[in-house]
Amino acid sequence: MMDEMQEQKSPVGNGKELPVRYDGKLKVLGKAKYAAEFAKEIEEQFKGKGMLYAYLVVSNIASGEIISMDTSAADHASGVVKILTPFNAPKLPMVAPQPPATRKLSLLQDRTVYYNGEPIGIVLAKSQVEAAHAASLIKVKYKVVPSKLNFDKRLGEARMPKGGNAPKAQKHGDEAAAWAKATTVVEHTYSTPLQTHNPMEPHATIAAWEADKLTVYDATQYISGDKQTLAKHFSLPLDSVHVIDPYVGGGFGSKGSTWSHVVLCALAAKVAGVPVKLVMERNQMFGPVGGRPKTVQTIKLGTDNTGKLVAIQHDVILPASVMEDFMEAAANQTTMLYQCDQISTSHKMVDMNIGVQTFQRAPGEAVGTAALESAMDELAIKLNMDPLQLRMLNYAEKDPGQQKEFSSKHLKDAYTQAAERFGWTKRNSTPGAMREGNKHIGYGMATATYPANRSAAMAVIRLQANGRMFIGSGTQDLGTGMYTMMAQTVMQELDVPWEMIDVKLGDSTLPKAPVSGGSQSTASVGPAVKEACNQLKLKLANMAAADPSSKLYGAMVNDIEVKGGMLVSKTDASKSEPLAASIARNKGAAIEETGSGEPSQEAQRALSTHSWGAVFAEVAVDDHTHMVEVRRVVATYDIGKLLNKKTGMSQLEGGIVWGIGTALTEETVLDNTTGRIVNNNLAEYHVPVNLDAGIIDVTVIDTPDTKFNPQGARGVGEIGITGVAGAIANAIFNATGKRVRDFPITPDKIM
Ligand code: MOS
Repeated sequence: MMDEMQEQKSPVGNGKELPVRYDGKLKVLGKAKYAAEFAKEIEEQFKGKGMLYAYLVVSNIASGEIISMDTSAADHASGVVKILTPFNAPKLPMVAPQPPATRKLSLLQDRTVYYNGEPIGIVLAKSQVEAAHAASLIKVKYKVVPSKLNFDKRLGEARMPKGGNAPKAQKHGDEAAAWAKATTVVEHTYSTPLQTHNPMEPHATIAAWEADKLTVYDATQYISGDKQTLAKHFSLPLDSVHVIDPYVGGGFGSKGSTWSHVVLCALAAKVAGVPVKLVMERNQMFGPVGGRPKTVQTIKLGTDNTGKLVAIQHDVILPASVMEDFMEAAANQTTMLYQCDQISTSHKMVDMNIGVQTFQRAPGEAVGTAALESAMDELAIKLNMDPLQLRMLNYAEKDPGQQKEFSSKHLKDAYTQAAERFGWTKRNSTPGAMREGNKHIGYGMATATYPANRSAAMAVIRLQANGRMFIGSGTQDLGTGMYTMMAQTVMQELDVPWEMIDVKLGDSTLPKAPVSGGSQSTASVGPAVKEACNQLKLKLANMAAADPSSKLYGAMVNDIEVKGGMLVSKTDASKSEPLAASIARNKGAAIEETGSGEPSQEAQRALSTHSWGAVFAEVAVDDHTHMVEVRRVVATYDIGKLLNKKTGMSQLEGGIVWGIGTALTEETVLDNTTGRIVNNNLAEYHVPVNLDAGIIDVTVIDTPDTKFNPQGARGVGEIGITGVAGAIANAIFNATGKRVRDFPITPDKIM
């Protein structure tokens, strides 16, 4: 396999030759297999058992009770082996949701319907097509009860959030006194729509049982989360569940939680006594696996006569599934983005008969910055001040909400660099003043931000008998670059040529790593890999120093380094031996060490950790069609140290493309009568394509944040989407004089 991984090198990072993408060639050759593509491996492991295909049966009412499910026609349809419904499914223990990423599931344990599209059955057949056909023959009788829909008309019903994920309503200082000082005030309400993640790889699971041991291939951002959830539902010891997922075709938060279909697939495999494969159809991705809730955000900003903010209020109302609250904390960034002594935020929820919502790329900040950065633009206009100047004037040197120092913040440099590349000084601030033919041109800007997260992680490193270096961690690669990051860390720490490094991840038998969410994987797993390398180096040095036959006999362990495939004394280069000597010393067996990395709780308590960015957008708006063309997005980010240019930049750029979708096209349309999602397909759920993206010009400040982690790196997975929708909305105003506060900004709203 390794020779397939040979690929071009590019001279980036630390002056060393780093791999472009460890898994790049396998991806291009179609050899990096996703969860649904392991049928052959399952067949080999479970010889003679064959494989059944599962299809989810879903409800077609939004709220009520299932009276009966007539499966007689389906039972006799071609290829059908078994149909599970709430009337015959085995009972599962009711287990409490597991933090951080388990959602309330629909497991055929009762007959209540909470939303349209909810799993209410599973058909097992000899092929996927037969299973799907049989599902269409099932006749369901319901007792329909009035459903909670129509969010916009029920804002008055908003209540405080339940459960632990609710940010506390923040209030600082004497509110009335602060507002009394405000000489300029803007107050507006912004809204963002329900959105649905659409990774190219849909959710998919293969489950197989061998006595009381469960093997699962699953499209997931968290193999350990799957393992815990499955172990709990089937009352198994943790070690009896093996979750495998070496490659993930995108996740964006939708694969962060273990959803109903995973447990149902394992349940079906148990009942049938054969391996079962379940692949969700694209339309089933809209509902049972989460999405981003709609938000209605009212923002009030007050300044003194110099333009300094004296009071901020940001109140959010969002829908919650009747099954479980999920908080899209859209006001979070407002507590710390600009200096202000009086900041007040709140989040309230309206119950809805919709599927449980979940994390979607930059949950909170993606839509929170769309509103806040639009409001800042409106404030700048009212103050007759340049929008960039307004942000500089209100720059927060410390986190004003938590009253803490930032671990590192170079946002001013980001503003300056991006403004210069963009040519911000060429902007005419009068709306509609810049024209080209029948197009109005507009420039807009916004601030981007996302928290820097980090969790405990472990990694195992092994000098193998064949001389190759193995590095493993129970993390995931969503296409983000974990393979590459792990390989390059070993390469940098132990001077191993990257062709000699074998990386393994996405397997729950490897040492535990956190959910690949919250942009935390690199910041969490990187230090663990680094520490594993360090431990291995110490072990090899100790073994050599204690061996009278070694040239390094008696050397100080800390004086020995690994370099060029050798153990070498730093003080006396004549004292060295090849790594093969270590293997020989160990009687030909591999030498292994583990490393772990954990954020310092003291630092976490003392510091506020965030990434930052400045986003500038140029749009051209057609006079007649009102179509918006995003010509350029120029952005500079402060994300600490950029560990790998190729993979890091790719994430930032991808985030910006999604920001363009948030600004202009993306919306999951809920039918308020039936609770069905109208556009549950990629033809009608509009994501930007290449032609919609224009020029994307990204740079980074690249200053290490070593107070945050030893590599100085903060995550890059999510910040790219933030700020972009605000910058585009502001550019559209500059082009047309039309302020659209309801995202996405479709042409009809600009007319
Ligand atoms: Mo991300 S939305 O935390 O996978």
